[in-house]
Amino acid sequence: MTLIKIIHVIFVLLSISGFFARGVLMIRDSALLQQRWVKTVPHAVDTILLLSAIILASQWGFAALGIPWLQAKIGALLVYILLGVVAIRPGQSKSVRIGAWLGAMLTFAYIVSVAITKNPLVFA
Ligand code: HEM
Repeated sequence: MTLIKIIHVIFVLLSISGFFARGVLMIRDSALLQQRWVKTVPHAVDTILLLSAIILASQWGFAALGIPWLQAKIGALLVYILLGVVAIRPGQSKSVRIGAWLGAMLTFAYIVSVAITKNPLVFA
């Protein structure tokens, strides 16, 4: 495994652990969610995750955009971000936010499946 792939996988783990933990805080209406570092650290983690993804994908140049499993990853990443925003930001009812939180984690599992199998079909 190359160093950049190791960094990518480490930040994959940090990202999903942080997202899971923030969901638990959201369900408990924890005041911790308002802490500055709880809001900023996930942005830093996700930025590094995305940068490592771009560096990894750049090994194929612009052709990367035509590779089906990378297209599936990018599309699913957008879904993960949208569901994540609904889950973490106040505004929606608790049940909608919990549904979005669970949906985001399912989407994340799909992205990991695509990353490992290099196939857009689930665990194919
Ligand atoms: C939440 C977002 C993401 C997750 C959970 C994720 C997960 C992973 C995992 C687990 C691997 C290691 C697979 C393996 O070799 O066993 C991987 C590799 C990789 N990922 Fe991601 N990834 C994400 C986002 C992205 C994005 C947005 C891109 C590019 C557009 C990307 C591009 C790559 C590439 C090119 C590899 C290396 C494939 C190889 O050469 O074997 N990833 N990803």
